[in-house]
Amino acid sequence: ADGSQGRAAVPSGASTGAFEAHELRDGDPRRYRGKGVRRAVEHVRGPIAARLTGMDPGEQGVLDRALIELDGTPDKARLGANALLAASLACAHAAAAAERQPLFRWLAHLAGSEPRLPLPMINLLSGGKHAGGQVDFQDFLIVPRGAESVSRALEMTHAVYFAALDLLRERHGYQPLVADEGGLAPRLASNEAMLEVCVAAIERAGLRPLDDVALAVDVAATHFFRAGAEAGATGGRYRLALEGAELDAAALVERLAAWRGKYPILSIEDGLAEDDWAHWPELTRRLGTRCQVLGDDLFVTQTARIGRGIRERAANSVLIKVNQVGTLSEALDALRLAQEAGWSAVVSARSGETEDAWLADLATGSGAGQIKVGSIARSERLAKYNRLLALEHGHPELPFARSELDRFVRPA
Ligand code: PGA
Ligand code: ZN
Repeated sequence: ADGSQGRAAVPSGASTGAFEAHELRDGDPRRYRGKGVRRAVEHVRGPIAARLTGMDPGEQGVLDRALIELDGTPDKARLGANALLAASLACAHAAAAAERQPLFRWLAHLAGSEPRLPLPMINLLSGGKHAGGQVDFQDFLIVPRGAESVSRALEMTHAVYFAALDLLRERHGYQPLVADEGGLAPRLASNEAMLEVCVAAIERAGLRPLDDVALAVDVAATHFFRAGAEAGATGGRYRLALEGAELDAAALVERLAAWRGKYPILSIEDGLAEDDWAHWPELTRRLGTRCQVLGDDLFVTQTARIGRGIRERAANSVLIKVNQVGTLSEALDALRLAQEAGWSAVVSARSGETEDAWLADLATGSGAGQIKVGSIARSERLAKYNRLLALEHGHPELPFARSELDRFVRPA
């Protein structure tokens, strides 16, 4: 009514969880190898537009409930979570514009949170589904927790990234090619060698491992888990192709605990598979006081699964990927549930990102404390970092969540 407008682009993932909301693709192999989204776009222009017309974009919860009811399926398969989320986020943008507020402030209002700039978790080395599977584990990330600002965090990250590149060039003749999220993807002899390179790169950049720059790992274990034929998930095995080894859950937990002892790792994501509920509590018992035990595929940003995780003490942290659930309100509900349980939270991009930077506003406005958007290469990543920098410079009153992982650091 007042001419305010909003638009949004939504991402897509490569290493998706089985329980994510349904992303609707056309499936016509002659066009974009089946990945076209004409049907999803038609749903936005047709039924979604018809339903939303006349509604108040300031009522995000009402609006999102209307979208969920309109779709009518538990996994948003009819209209497509991609169609619903694009509409949901476009409405939030329009509402912010109508309120004459920057998006992060409007999102803080919706979340009922104090905004703060997130501590970034930044992809340094890539493997798994993001890099052709040259190593088994998916992301080896750095957390510049010694930085006092986003700006300084990015400077430190740049120093470590290029130190890693120099080192890989010298030792392995590595050419600077990057993976899905902009990480370097060397073909190393073992999964552990990736961690050694991370630490060596931090030191070569003149920074202190742990105090200045800690490590995080996204194991993405779902993607090398082979369910047992009869026994279900509990009888499954984790198959490490690079090592020609098959581990049971206990052995994988053992390995991760040993790594935590040896390397400055403060966060482990998807250390076990999305269905391995039987063993997540053991992972958390073993690591939960000295490491963020983070669920991505396990929780898929859905309150039912997070609620189970809280009850079973399966983790102590949640990854928030809005398109895993399909509306903004549901993602904020998921975040709130985790925070009320005392869990930490990481607002995350997908491997298939767009140039849209709303995620930086979401991470800041929701006060989640951490953000994960990939490396410092590829502009769909940098769009988010640039937005964080703009927020930091434009809003000097915003605190920076630098101490978010401090609780996992214990005196030796
Ligand atoms: P994605 O996964 O490829 O599904 O976006 C990224 C992640 O595992 O965090
Ligand atoms: Zn993940």
